[in-house]
Amino acid sequence: MMMSVKASVFLLVLYFTTPISGLEVKSDPEVSGGFVHTELEKTVSLTCLSEPQEAELVWLRNGQLISIAEGNTWGSSRLCVTPVTHNDHAAIFTCQMKNNASVNASVQLEVTYAPLHSGKEEVSVEQTRELELSCDVFANPPVLVSWQQHGDPIDLSEGGFLLTNDGFTSRLKVGRVDRAVHQGPYSCVTSSPIYPNRTKSFEVTVTDKTLQFQTDLIFPMIAGLVVIGCTTLLAIISRWRWITQVTQKHTHVFFYCPCGNQTIDLHSKSDFP
Ligand SMILES: *[C@@H]1O[C@H](CO)[C@@H](O)[C@H](O)[C@H]1NC(C)=O
Ligand SMILES: *[C@@H]1O[C@H](CO)[C@@H](O)[C@H](O)[C@H]1NC(C)=O
Ligand SMILES: *[C@@H]1O[C@H](CO)[C@@H](O)[C@H](O)[C@H]1NC(C)=O
Repeated sequence: MMMSVKASVFLLVLYFTTPISGLEVKSDPEVSGGFVHTELEKTVSLTCLSEPQEAELVWLRNGQLISIAEGNTWGSSRLCVTPVTHNDHAAIFTCQMKNNASVNASVQLEVTYAPLHSGKEEVSVEQTRELELSCDVFANPPVLVSWQQHGDPIDLSEGGFLLTNDGFTSRLKVGRVDRAVHQGPYSCVTSSPIYPNRTKSFEVTVTDKTLQFQTDLIFPMIAGLVVIGCTTLLAIISRWRWITQVTQKHTHVFFYCPCGNQTIDLHSKSDFP
């Protein structure tokens, strides 16, 4: 805002000083109030004239010197901006006398462009998955964007819809799709103060969660079973010696039990004096 106010004041000063300074910038398309209105991909042709006497001229774009052909500097100088790009919006082109910078004249480009979205997109999303629809909104002047479902404006307070807009893309998101709520036709409409409204349509189909069911549930189940199986196997292996020993011990105990008893008996006997 400050910049544009400053630029306007600057241009206003130039507007009044230009006739005195002796430099004039003409343009095709024509200059209007210091501005040249154009669109993307178009060509702007600027001509600087020094009057009454011929002088050597230079051009600057946003204060940076532009190199021009040698034969194009005396008395009058032509500059072509082609093709016009987004970056040329608000660019200031200044023509000035080479040996006296205070003799100068400027014009500012005003590049307008419409958003590029159009057509129809078929969108397929699985039940409970995330849905994202996007629409181009990069435009000058800025556009208003409205999203519709079944031809009615989307109510953001219900249906789990989330809307974002970064000036380039408008996105309509749903974190967890529910066929009953989210299946059907959508559209994004941009309205511009100078360009016709543009619409992009979407047809959203919510499919069953088939593949996801397997990957989400079967894989962890298999993984779980494998882990349990391996753990059991490892446990069995690590305790195999112990198990066999215990089994053997049990066998031994069982087998030698009478002997043990005998031994105890012997000890008992020997314990008795
Ligand atoms: C530059 O041009 C301005 C306006 O015509 C004039 O007042 C000033 O004296 C000039 N300066 C020089 C160094 O020629
Ligand atoms: C252009 O001329 C004006 C008025 O003479 C002067 O104030 C301004 O500094 C000049 N611009 C440049 C870039 O020299
Ligand atoms: C463009 O869109 C705006 C806002 O959605 C609407 O008010 C207007 O009627 C539309 N214009 C046309 C020509 O459809």
